[in-house]
Amino acid sequence: MNIHEIVTNSLKQNKFIYAVFTTPRNKSENPYIKITARTVSLKGENFIQFEKFTDKQAFHENCSYEDAAERIVNMIVHDYRNINIFTEDSDFQLMVSKKGMVKVTEKEASKKPKIDEHNKKKQYIIREHEPCDFLCHLGVMNPEGDVYAKKYDKFKQINKFLEIVDDSLKDKKLQDDFMIIDFGCGKAYLTFALYYYFYFIKNIKVKIIGLDLKKDVIEFCNQTAKSLNYEHLEFLHGDIKNFEYKEKVDMIVTLHACDNATDAALVKAVMWNTDIILSVPCCQHEFYDKIENMNLEPMLKHGLIKERVSSLVTDSLRSLFLETKGYKVQLMEFIAMEHTPKNILIRAVKSNKDIEKSQAEYEEFKKFWNLNDLFIEKYFNAIK
Ligand SMILES: C[S@@+](CC[C@H](N)C(=O)[O-])C[C@H]1O[C@@H](n2cnc3c(N)ncnc32)[C@H](O)[C@@H]1O
Repeated sequence: MNIHEIVTNSLKQNKFIYAVFTTPRNKSENPYIKITARTVSLKGENFIQFEKFTDKQAFHENCSYEDAAERIVNMIVHDYRNINIFTEDSDFQLMVSKKGMVKVTEKEASKKPKIDEHNKKKQYIIREHEPCDFLCHLGVMNPEGDVYAKKYDKFKQINKFLEIVDDSLKDKKLQDDFMIIDFGCGKAYLTFALYYYFYFIKNIKVKIIGLDLKKDVIEFCNQTAKSLNYEHLEFLHGDIKNFEYKEKVDMIVTLHACDNATDAALVKAVMWNTDIILSVPCCQHEFYDKIENMNLEPMLKHGLIKERVSSLVTDSLRSLFLETKGYKVQLMEFIAMEHTPKNILIRAVKSNKDIEKSQAEYEEFKKFWNLNDLFIEKYFNAIK
């Protein structure tokens, strides 16, 4: 194995523990007599922390794994002659001659990782560095399984959604005819991810439909499903509001279905008595023009605040609406704010809860915000 492989593989596979660089090559130009590198975890993300020692002081610097790999290789090739790298698999001693020849000695691993399992780099349901057919096909990963930097947020989003699906179904015994609809599926990253999760991770042959308004996107999705041999995945062109389905639907998902498409999906789920709803709403414009409360005018007079408040009021009302239909509802953070501002997920599970209290709360809430003539109610009444 060459130096580059030792360093990049141990970082990529999250097996790097510690490295120490001593005997600087050029003492007059390099103020650091020793540098160490170790894994640190900050706010759930892992970094490599370099500690650089002069005669009197130590300086710290944190680097992403990608930057650290390049830097460590550079330090080996150009700056130090004596290097020890400790990984979970092996210890490596590297001796660099005056002419720059590197001699690598590999020994049995002597160190255990310092960071605990909890702090280890996050292990996703669909793993990094392992090629996944649909993610490669949709341009999220390269054929080696490395996620493209500009698609990393999408990768995280998909995995987070799958974690929530996984958690939502943990107590259920699923049959092969479990039926899922992804409303407003778009390019269908999530729909393919659900198929992959159920078929290849859980080994359950569910049925999945993705529906979208855009004909060309649906054609693309059907072609992709065919290329991947995802036989039980079907994409249909149409509007959620007009979509009819006669058989049982067990789970409905929506991810950023625009504006009141989310409301239409929630109403459909209620009408069909769907057991589980997982919905991450998108932009919503209806309430912005409707909410009014004299006491809150100092807030609502600012467009920016009003927009945020109306979005939170919308999702709160959606939750209450579902509660009035007998669902147990939780609002959870979907993915951290820095990745997408649309980060609330509504999880609703059909239950036998008493709906009287929810109905009263729903009416009070509407009164408080002066909300009338709402799409979600009109649509529900039109199709019930
Ligand atoms: C922002 S995209 C999200 C796509 C996908 N769920 C994702 O997260 O990658 C919203 C999608 O919802 C679709 N959409 C909006 N209103 C719809 C409706 N009434 N019926 C079906 N699809 C709709 C749009 O065509 C678009 O593809």
